[in-house]
Amino acid sequence: MEERLSGEKPNFSDGISKKYEKDCFLVPGPVRMSSKTLESMSHPVITARGSEYKAIMAELNGLLRIAFNLSPTSYDIGVKSFEGDDGYSTIVVSGSGTAAMEMIISNRFSKKDIVLVPTNGKFGERVADMTREFSNVKHIDFGWGKSFDLTKLENELSKGNYSGIAFCHNETSTGITQDADKLSKIAEKYKVALIIDGITSVGGLPVHPLKWNAEAIVVGAQKCTAGPSGVSAIAINNSFIKNVMEKNENNELSSRYYLDLIPALKRAADDQTSWTPAINLTIGWIQALRELNEEGLENRWSRCEKLSKGVQNLFSDLGFTLLADSSQRSNTATAILYPDGIDDKWRNELAVKYNTYVIGGQDHLKGKMFRIGSMGITEKEEMIEGCKRMISCFSDFGIKLSDLDVESYFL
Ligand SMILES: Cc1ncc(COP(=O)(O)O)c(C=O)c1O
Repeated sequence: MEERLSGEKPNFSDGISKKYEKDCFLVPGPVRMSSKTLESMSHPVITARGSEYKAIMAELNGLLRIAFNLSPTSYDIGVKSFEGDDGYSTIVVSGSGTAAMEMIISNRFSKKDIVLVPTNGKFGERVADMTREFSNVKHIDFGWGKSFDLTKLENELSKGNYSGIAFCHNETSTGITQDADKLSKIAEKYKVALIIDGITSVGGLPVHPLKWNAEAIVVGAQKCTAGPSGVSAIAINNSFIKNVMEKNENNELSSRYYLDLIPALKRAADDQTSWTPAINLTIGWIQALRELNEEGLENRWSRCEKLSKGVQNLFSDLGFTLLADSSQRSNTATAILYPDGIDDKWRNELAVKYNTYVIGGQDHLKGKMFRIGSMGITEKEEMIEGCKRMISCFSDFGIKLSDLDVESYFL
């Protein structure tokens, strides 16, 4: 690990390109942070309530609006940079993406509601489990990596007793992206709230809160925006806020305190947070978001797409099975099944011998697959080199693969 952090040159076996000699860190989050992002967090301590921090919050909110693909705002103190002219507000949450999801669910739904939660992987299942804590849930499991059956969802919503549909947009555990365009049309037709876990989609693949009329969507800093772990944000529209206010007045909501949205909104209007914010993490996130903004949101989407398509085509041509349905494979996370006879010992060897990091499968797929991230600031050269090292590592385990021109998959 020390070797990875210090970026020292590992000792590779013959046949591995010498062009890219650093570690290949290809996990689907937390992702590598730029050196400028890391350095920015080494910031002297400042108070949470002074104008210096208010300026940080104002800029962070302004930059988050860009990552969420919302209308731009000024980054200046005192102009409510968290609110745009499109009816959406952003709120920064201290805590990882799960905390932000909990803020959305616990403030929006009560035990009087029923929420439809379709899933095709671990993180969707978490949305179902979490929502069950605060509301009633109809969970429809389509199977890991399998597309949702939209007709089935529409039939369910047509029963008319649902308040919302909540789903994980980009299912990182299985490498599938949901068809949010179509889901949004169904939500619109049956007038239910659309609630989105966008933790590995916001900043990495096309997300259109306004077009989808999403009531709420979440991002985690450590994923597609290449920020630090432990801080996240929500984007919510006016309909979401209205519902929260009404339910709060009627005493319908379950208890919440740290994640209560109402004080958070009041404090945001003054460029503040309800509690002591994650000061240095938010400073780091600003730098990461500036870099996203410099690259351009759509350019980043298309870079992630090129990297993921390269990985998916390469491993398919090498004879591997990809878990997700081919029509909806994710641009930020690819899930690949191990060939017979291979398990997580391969991943360990990849890390130790090749200084290359991917992540394993979860739950029943633990030890049966690996996942490659193509999000954040990962460059083509790193991905190409990482794929070459993976191929060499499979060869070390006796898996003979065709000799393909890896570079040609990433042109
Ligand atoms: C799609 C998705 N949702 C939720 C989570 C959980 O987020 P966090 O670990 O930031 O709380 C993850 C983490 O990998 C994820 O990929």
